[in-house]
Formats: sequence, structure tokens, C-alpha cells
Amino acid sequence: MPKGLNVPPYKIKMVEPINLIPKEERKKALKRAGYNLFSLKSEEVFIDLLTDSGTNAMSDNQWAGMMRGDESYAGSKNFFHLKDTVQDIFDYKHIVPTHQGRGAEQVLFPLLVDEGDYVLSNMHFDTTKAHVELAGGTAKNFIIDEALNTDKYHPFKGNFDVDKTEKFIKEKGKDKIAMIIITITCNSAGGQPVSLENIKKVSQLGKKYDLPVIMDAARFAENAFFIKSRVQEYENKSIKNIIKEMFSYTDAFTMSAKKDAIVNIGGIIGIKDDEELYNKVRSQAVPLEGFPTYGGLAGRDMEAIARGLKEGIQYPYLKHRIDQINLLGEKLKSNGIPIQYPVGGHAVFVNAKKLLPHIPYQQFPAQALANELYLEGGIRGVEIGSLLLGRDPKTGEQIESPFEFLRLTIPRRVYTDSHLNFVAESLINIKDRVDKIKGLKFTYEPDILRHFTARLKPIE
Ligand code: F0G
Repeated sequence: MPKGLNVPPYKIKMVEPINLIPKEERKKALKRAGYNLFSLKSEEVFIDLLTDSGTNAMSDNQWAGMMRGDESYAGSKNFFHLKDTVQDIFDYKHIVPTHQGRGAEQVLFPLLVDEGDYVLSNMHFDTTKAHVELAGGTAKNFIIDEALNTDKYHPFKGNFDVDKTEKFIKEKGKDKIAMIIITITCNSAGGQPVSLENIKKVSQLGKKYDLPVIMDAARFAENAFFIKSRVQEYENKSIKNIIKEMFSYTDAFTMSAKKDAIVNIGGIIGIKDDEELYNKVRSQAVPLEGFPTYGGLAGRDMEAIARGLKEGIQYPYLKHRIDQINLLGEKLKSNGIPIQYPVGGHAVFVNAKKLLPHIPYQQFPAQALANELYLEGGIRGVEIGSLLLGRDPKTGEQIESPFEFLRLTIPRRVYTDSHLNFVAESLINIKDRVDKIKGLKFTYEPDILRHFTARLKPIE
């Protein structure tokens, strides 16, 4: 393909109309939603960049697979197709399906985490952190410092600071550490990849201190793509071989299939070869998720995941996807909108701390920016910052997040470049009036996972 052209490796067979409602109606909708975009009706949204999770467009092949669903309670043929597919791509012996990623976490984590333990990660995703805490543990993040500087280029901003991680293990004693979780790509730091070299080092650390190393594998294929495109040695390796190598260094994975497996629902626990752990997971799955050959999914869903896993590791698909997101990021950056740079795998993360320096973290600058973007273009992004982080459970103080991001998350195979151009233009349009955007305060603040249902209002 000629350089500079980014043509999707698919054509569109079915369309879903979207509609930009008038500005006056957007204003009313936002007020009614308590200035929280989670509370909008999706019909009030023109371009929905809330998440890339479960919002993907399935292929004709996946839809055809849905018709081949074997809805047997036990031993569905779709389970075996899924298992064979996972064995083929990841080289892992065992799988247990779950209803989504957090279902995998709720089954696996209590088996590995005891009351008072620490769990170490580059950066925990919020449900991952919640399941560590529900199991009685404390989640600690060890991302490299380079990730915190959004302007500075680093090819693998998702990497662990291995020295700091080891220092912590020595300080607390290895018996106090339950496991290490490698989040690929690192969602909370901006969809940033983790290098193979870093995965290997973390794995060695795990071996040295006898700690299980678990992959939070939601965006495994995007991570492999970055390794292929940023490390010369891997340039000519296939995505599949890179994935195999990545997962050869870990013991198990939890996966939200709603991302790189390109489906609308589903999750997987993968176990490399630990029979004892597998047996425990199987037993634990029954009361929480379902019998281990369906784990909360219909046979047809497992079939769609099996087919989606194969499609999601195709190089032309991944290249188009990552290039498309990069196009949006580069357009914003060249127009003076600060972003986490380089652009990550599933989203563009706008640095709201930098763009709206007049709004302190207690007044949620990224949420205020998200609301303004909705008013401007009917676009729904999501705050990844202090609103999401919440309060210190002991003191009740608002914690300051290391980032105040507006995440513009791109569903797979859903929007065209012209949609994303509209998003870029809308954000650029509000750039000159950002100093007029007001901070927010709560009118209702729930105790847990408050960002989903909180109500806010602008501070006059
Ligand atoms: N791990 C990571 C890294 C995630 O990004 C998510 C979900 C999960 C685990 C949980 O998976 O939603 O299937 O239960 N992330 C979504 C997001 C919700 O918008 O980033 P799930």
C-alpha cells in the first residue's frame, strides 16, 4: 500500500444510524445526567468514545459463528474451539471462560491473594484493583517514571520499574507479596505497551522470589503489534510468535475478551500448566461464573471469541487500527492539544491537567473537558483521573491522580477516519476557550466506584 495511506482491510456490510442532536438538547441532556456522561442515553451521543470494551463490530465470520452456537450445559463444542484457539495462540494448556474480564479476576484473585498481601503491577486497572482489595490485598503500582511525563517519547511507557519493584519485595518480604500482574497494554497510563525485555525481567523477578506472574491480557494483540513495530529484532516476527513469547514468561492470564478478541461480551482465565491451580479455578468458577465449559457465556459467545481471537492478531487489521488512532493523536498534538505521547493502543489520552491548568484536581479538569466536548460535538469521552481514583479509604481525602486524562477510546472496526477527524476538529474548536471551562463539584457522591453514578455541577 502506498505510504501514508491507511485503508481499512474490511468493507462495511451493515450500518447503524447515529444522530447529532441540537446543541440546546445536548445542554439539557448533560444537566439531566448530572454532568456525568455515564448517565447519558446513548441516543444522546453522536460519537461514542467512552470505551473500546464490548463496543466492537464483529465480522461476518463471527456472526456466522454465532449461528453455530452449541448451547449444551456441559462440553459445548464451542468451548473446545475456544480452548484449541487459546492453545494455538498462547501455548497455554488450560482455559476457563468467564462472563468478562472482572469475572476472571473474581475467580482467580482470591485463590492467590491472602488478607494483608500486596499485589504488584505496572498499573492496575480499576476493577483489577477492586478485586485485589476484595480479596484482602493492597494494590501497588510500579510504572516507570517516563510514563508520567506525557510529552516525552518512550517506546514502552507501560514498563515496570523493575528496581523499584524488587526493592519493595525486599522491604516487605516475599511472603507478603501475592503475585505480580503485568497489564498489557497499560490502560491507565495511556494504553502504553510493555516491552518483551521488561516482561522477561519481571518474570525473572517472579522466579527469584517465587511469585506467580499474571498477565492482565485485555489488549495483548495491540501490545504485540507495538513490539513488532518498535523493536528492530522483532520486525520480521509474526504477531502470533511475539504473543507466544510474551506469554511464555507468565504463569496465567485474566482476559477481558471485550477488547482484542473483538466481541461484545466475554472473558477467559488462561493457565499455562499448573494443574493444581487449574483445578482450584475450575471449582471456584462454578458458583461464581458457571460450569467450567461455559463460565457465564452462551456457546455462541465462545464461538465469537474463538473467531475474534484469530482475527484480532492479523497484522493488516492491527496496523490499520493503531495507525487510525495515531492519526487522531497526531492531529490533536500538532494543533496544540497536549496528549500522552506516543499515542497508545486503544485510545488517545488528552492531558487535561496541562490543557486546563486553572482547574485543580479536586474539581476534576478531565471531566470538565469531557463535558465541554460533549456540548461541542455530541462526543462522549471518559475521565481517567482523580474523579475515577476516588478518596483515601482511611482519611476520606480526595487522592490526587498522577494523571488527569480525557480518554478518547476507539471501538474496533466501528468509526471511520472522518468520524475521528470530526472529533479532532471539535476538540480543536474548544481549545481557545478552555480558560472559560469551570471545575465541578459533587451534588451526589456514592461511596464505591463513584465515577459511574456520581452527580456533579459546575462551580460558578
Ligand atoms: N483489565 C483491563 C486492563 C481493562 O481495561 C479492563 C476493562 C478490565 C481488566 C476488566 O474487563 O470490563 O471485561 O470486566 N476495561 C474497560 C475500559 C471497562 O473501559 O477500559 P471487563
